[in-house]
Amino acid sequence: MFKSSWSSPSNIAVMKYWGKYGLQLPRNPSLSFTLSASVSHTTVTCIPNIGKGNHVNIEFYLDKEPNEKFGSRISKWLDTLTLEFPFLNDFTLHIETSNTFPHSSGIASSASGLSALALCLCDLQEQISGIAFERVEFYKRASTVARLGSGSASRSVFPFMSVWGFSPDVPDSSDEYAIAIEPLDVFRTYHDAILIVNPKEKSVSSSVGHSLMEGNPFAEARYKQANDHLALLLNAMDKSDVHAFGKIAEQEALTLHALMMCSDPSFILMKGNTLLMIDKIRSFRKDTSIPAYFTLDAGPNVHLLYPQEYSSEVHQFIETELRSLCHNGFIIWDKVGSGPSRL
Ligand code: DP6
Repeated sequence: MFKSSWSSPSNIAVMKYWGKYGLQLPRNPSLSFTLSASVSHTTVTCIPNIGKGNHVNIEFYLDKEPNEKFGSRISKWLDTLTLEFPFLNDFTLHIETSNTFPHSSGIASSASGLSALALCLCDLQEQISGIAFERVEFYKRASTVARLGSGSASRSVFPFMSVWGFSPDVPDSSDEYAIAIEPLDVFRTYHDAILIVNPKEKSVSSSVGHSLMEGNPFAEARYKQANDHLALLLNAMDKSDVHAFGKIAEQEALTLHALMMCSDPSFILMKGNTLLMIDKIRSFRKDTSIPAYFTLDAGPNVHLLYPQEYSSEVHQFIETELRSLCHNGFIIWDKVGSGPSRL
């Protein structure tokens, strides 16, 4: 019996992917931190099929419970992968997955969950065929497969930081898969305190959000801005300029939300406490010069990004000023991590 287990982390985009075309290709390059505490653990066991069907057979369990919603998304994705992984026609995949972060945290599990599953598929293909890829090729392939399931999942298979989407400023970058980039030390130990304002699922799915970019009057300006931002961000990283880095991170987050606000239909995904936190973070920075900057996903929760050396000052600030604005005081203390691992 063939079996594979991987753990793979979530990631937080500093440069946002928002807008896609064709087969899950991004309209602009994105860059993210790979996280370490927010992780999915996935095990896939292959059970030989009796007879052939038209679809890939799966049994999907999230936290030991069958999960129809995520399972049917995975089924559709796997049906598109049978040329890449011919073994999918011959086996029923028994998939068990669990997340280190609670369901009701507002943290999307698609990046960690689908990257973990993509790694299992690549691993199983090697076991079944008896042919192993070079490690660089293995991760490139896993990133490509993960991208086909969810764009942001492509960035989760690498340690520290990764870029997905072609940019003339990033050698070897591609729209098809993410690549690892090698940040200087300060960025390898960055912290991300995830301040949960609302633990409910996103009110607009990423797919709907991306598609709204097609009619957005600011779309072209946004794609140009993203390329300009990436060049500025890479320059800031080269110089370990954490303030220039954080400034772009905030502009990216607010641009993402501005684009949603002016889409048709329009979405306002920030809540009152999101804005109160943003205000407090900016005041704290002004008063202390500590480089704590926020970013946001497509939802109300605030990710506070800061270098490790300021941990104690920032923790004190969070406890006194921000925790009371979190849903039931809920915070996930995350930081940059070293990427997926085979279990
Ligand atoms: C706002 O990767 O969830 O988090 O490709 O449709 O699955 P799909 O979208 P998804 O979009 C993520 C959007 C974002 C920004 C980002 O992570 O870059």
